[in-house]
Amino acid sequence: MTILVTGATGNTGRPLVAALRERGADVRAAARRPGPGGVPFDWADPRTHTPALAGAEAVYLVPPPLTLDPMPLVGPFLAAARAAGVRRVVLLGSLAELPGAPGVAELGRAVRSFPEWVVLRPSGFMQNFTGAHPVAAGIRERGEIRSATGQGRLGWIDAADIAAVAAEVLSAPGPVAGEHVLTGPEALGYTEAAAVIAEVTGRPVRHTPAPVAELVARNVAAGMPEPFAAALVGVDTAIAEGREDRVTDTVHRLTGRPPRPFRDFASAHRTEWTTP
Ligand SMILES: NC(=O)c1ccc[n+]([C@@H]2O[C@H](COP(=O)([O-])OP(=O)(O)OC[C@H]3O[C@@H](n4cnc5c(N)ncnc54)[C@H](OP(=O)(O)O)[C@@H]3O)[C@@H](O)[C@H]2O)c1
Repeated sequence: MTILVTGATGNTGRPLVAALRERGADVRAAARRPGPGGVPFDWADPRTHTPALAGAEAVYLVPPPLTLDPMPLVGPFLAAARAAGVRRVVLLGSLAELPGAPGVAELGRAVRSFPEWVVLRPSGFMQNFTGAHPVAAGIRERGEIRSATGQGRLGWIDAADIAAVAAEVLSAPGPVAGEHVLTGPEALGYTEAAAVIAEVTGRPVRHTPAPVAELVARNVAAGMPEPFAAALVGVDTAIAEGREDRVTDTVHRLTGRPPRPFRDFASAHRTEWTTP
């Protein structure tokens, strides 16, 4: 089976490509700047879609980033996928629902219209604490996580565990269909996550409450369009209200091994927060 992986350079796409290649699958890693064995793919350039889809039977779909309305770009792509003979689509969705984004639900419905479909709905990524993410920058620069989540908790998940589930469902021989809520092994608030990072780095890290307007401005400064930046902060409110406080056994059930705990992830990434 030929599998097209979009977002192949990203948090889930990169480990997914590696996992599928390890299984001997015929993987097509789609990226704006493709590496060896990859194909050029840009959501904003539909001319790249049909060549990337030619001969593919399955697609891992990472929607275009930073938009509340993915359908203008993804709708024509899914039509081209259907015409190319794609049978199985695995969508990277989200447990959190972005407020004011009906197009996201529409995308879920479009994916469900394929003969075989899976919608992955992961909780917050542990990777948000690393790299260029504003949460990571705050820890590095000030030893501080600012949020509007209060004491609300969520089941942080390592993106590699999402990729492991995606590899299972993309390479499963039989028909697949369903929605999977994916979490790590425990729910933690930012206060507890900050304590873990402080412990593994030996430097003080605290979680402090921030007004919504400050967080929206922070996201805009990080390069997000304002409507998307505001919707993302809306998720903080849902977390504060306990709506994301959920842990599932899905990663263990589908991959045969338990998901990575946050402490383990933080220990492995401690230099993220100790080097400027
Ligand atoms: N972060 C979280 O906590 C979280 C939680 C639940 C769900 N999610 C979902 O996970 C998804 C991925 O989020 P992420 O933050 O981890 O991002 P990511 O997958 O690490 O990065 C985005 C990917 O999209 C690619 N990309 C960007 N612009 C593109 C374009 N115009 N055409 C084609 N590809 C493009 C990037 O590749 P290049 O830049 O190399 O081209 C990269 O591979 C999002 O849909 C998000 O809703 C995230």
